[in-house]
Amino acid sequence: MKHLLVTGGAGFVGSNFVRHVLETTFHRVTVLDKLTYASSRLVLSDLPPERCRLVVGDVTDAELVHSLVADVDAIVHFAAESHNDNSLREPGPFVQTNILGTYTVLEAARAYGTRLHHVSTDEVFGDLPLGSRTRFSEQSPFNPSSPYSGTKAGADLLVRAWSRSFGIRATTSNSCNIYGPFQHVEKFIPRQITNILRGARPKIYGDGRNVREWLHVDDHSRAVLTILERGRSGETYLVGTGNEHENISVLRTILRLMNRPEDDFDRVRDRPGHDARYAIDASKLRSTLQWTPRHDDFEAGLRSTIEWYRRNEPWWGPGKSAVEAAYGEREDAPADGS
Ligand code: NAD
Ligand code: TYD
Repeated sequence: MKHLLVTGGAGFVGSNFVRHVLETTFHRVTVLDKLTYASSRLVLSDLPPERCRLVVGDVTDAELVHSLVADVDAIVHFAAESHNDNSLREPGPFVQTNILGTYTVLEAARAYGTRLHHVSTDEVFGDLPLGSRTRFSEQSPFNPSSPYSGTKAGADLLVRAWSRSFGIRATTSNSCNIYGPFQHVEKFIPRQITNILRGARPKIYGDGRNVREWLHVDDHSRAVLTILERGRSGETYLVGTGNEHENISVLRTILRLMNRPEDDFDRVRDRPGHDARYAIDASKLRSTLQWTPRHDDFEAGLRSTIEWYRRNEPWWGPGKSAVEAAYGEREDAPADGS
């Protein structure tokens, strides 16, 4: 039995990981989370208090982070500002949390010799051309496009430097796009599902031809736990499924599953610097650690995610109007920015 510190454990990916750990191991978890707009206490409220404790605080608070790390066997670092569109509006919190927060965690891991797993994204590699067959691998150069991906790339580089120069025991995972329960309604899939549930039309950026690779959050949790348990220190692992889809095709599937006409959506202004395509070669994780995704039927995963949002309006409802108001300002603005 181990004691894990999970930063950002009240957010989408982190809270699903905490649930997975409690369900599949005997470990105890301390969550460190600032409870930003992207999270809530509710996501952890039904978990057993003797095995899961929430500490509300900032991952850049060195004194707090050191005091927590002193008491754990391993750290899993999810805490981040995570949304590209927000990073284009206001990059400051991304630099603060994603770079300084990771630095703070690394220094604590160094001070106590604690095992660390750092959770990152394939967006650090930039994008791939539409229509190509190329995929990102662990050797792909970093080429980030947005303040979000730039700050995640900065964090990943710090982890590599601390591993090499200070010998800390750290692994990194770079995952493709993740979906499932408890994802904030600002993100693509929950935004479209909750728009439809509210009787509003979904919004697609530009021509909708951008391609994303999709991974169910349960498979991501299994990947992170596998790497934490059996990954080699200093190594990076890419996490992906091969489940690549154009945004417009994902949206049409959601509309069909929710019994709406497949053209019942609005096209809105494109995201500046919008990455064309992400695609992952996950063969290292598959062959060296024997991880395979279990939710490989993407349509079934979407169906269960739609059902989850249908049943959990009290969780997502309160924040929905503010998110749409912020999107409205961007999407309704004239294309030349005047
Ligand atoms: P999220 O925004 O849902 O959750 C982030 C969590 O971090 C929130 O609970 C928030 O309160 C917390 N947090 C933010 N700033 C903090 C701070 N200064 N101190 C302490 N806590 C803070 O994001 P997510 O989608 O769950 O992403 C989690 C991690 O997974 C991120 O590192 C992200 O880069 C990575 N990731 C996400 C995806 C995806 O598709 N969602 C894909 C690949 C990687
Ligand atoms: P998002 O969930 O923001 O993830 P990321 O930017 O990390 O890939 O967006 C996924 C894709 O969906 C991306 O190509 C942008 C697009 N998108 C829309 O077309 N409409 C929307 O309302 C949103 C939020 C995203």
